[in-house]
Amino acid sequence: MYIAVVTGASSGMGREFVLQLSEKERFDEIWIIARSADRLAALQAECKSPLRVMPMDLCDPASYSLYRDALAASAPQIGVLVNCAGYGKFDYCEDIPLDEQLGMIDLNNRAMTSFTMLSLPYMKPGAKIVQVDSLSAFQPVPYMAVYGATKAYVLSYSRALNVELAPRQIRVMAVSPGWVKTDFFDRAEKNRERPVVRYMNVLYEPADVVRTAIRHLYHTKKDVSVHGLPVLAQVLGVKLLPHRWVMKIWMRQQGLPNHRAHNHRADAKK
Ligand SMILES: NC(=O)c1ccc[n+]([C@@H]2O[C@H](COP(=O)([O-])OP(=O)(O)OC[C@H]3O[C@@H](n4cnc5c(N)ncnc54)[C@H](OP(=O)(O)O)[C@@H]3O)[C@@H](O)[C@H]2O)c1
Repeated sequence: MYIAVVTGASSGMGREFVLQLSEKERFDEIWIIARSADRLAALQAECKSPLRVMPMDLCDPASYSLYRDALAASAPQIGVLVNCAGYGKFDYCEDIPLDEQLGMIDLNNRAMTSFTMLSLPYMKPGAKIVQVDSLSAFQPVPYMAVYGATKAYVLSYSRALNVELAPRQIRVMAVSPGWVKTDFFDRAEKNRERPVVRYMNVLYEPADVVRTAIRHLYHTKKDVSVHGLPVLAQVLGVKLLPHRWVMKIWMRQQGLPNHRAHNHRADAKK
């Protein structure tokens, strides 16, 4: 059985990966993973490939065993793995509950690493792994400190893994989106009255970001896929400028308070 596996498939870019992969290749099944069983099941109506709905919470390590057991039971050949599940929480560091901060690490890093490692024994030469990181992977981002750090992990891990897996002819590609119109922000910004992100130069459609990623995956040897010239310019820019300048520009763009924490907290209460 030849399959694709997509995490974070219930919405946004993960959902798009499912639909566009089913157009690109013939899979016996696409295994789709997220917490919302209803949203996953609804995807079948729009998808060409048969879907196996696998609702699970990837912050819970029990999900690794569920996945391991499902693979052992079906012994599939995995053609494509897309690790797209992820979330961010944006705020002053002391205003983000610790369990949310650790939850980002659990989902964006631990689950992504686990699903990658558990999938490898089921991959043959030609298999492809997509790891969704973010433009924030390229620079430290105040007020998204943990989120940005988790995405830097994804980028670094993907690039190194791509080199390690080259002898097995397994390709690993990171996808580094800029701002994308998805449900992501409903979860990321607790304080919608006074959000952290107040300025976006461009807001992309998830379908367009995923279309570019799939083209890069199947038709190039890139290890990082970037959609949009402004995003590419920023990736190159942050390589040239000192990080403290890059962070200053970010703080100014978003009108974020660049002073001590207690001032910020007083400011936030106004
Ligand atoms: N939107 C942006 O501007 C942007 C920019 C750069 C990078 N990204 C990254 O792109 C990826 C996809 O995000 P998106 O923008 O498409 O947002 P989204 O629409 O919120 O999608 C996030 C997906 O992750 C799943 N998910 C969240 N928590 C989960 C958990 N504990 N267990 C299993 N699945 C979970 C969600 O499904 P359930 O809620 O059903 O579990 C959903 O399918 C993320 O890794 C995000 O960090 C987004």
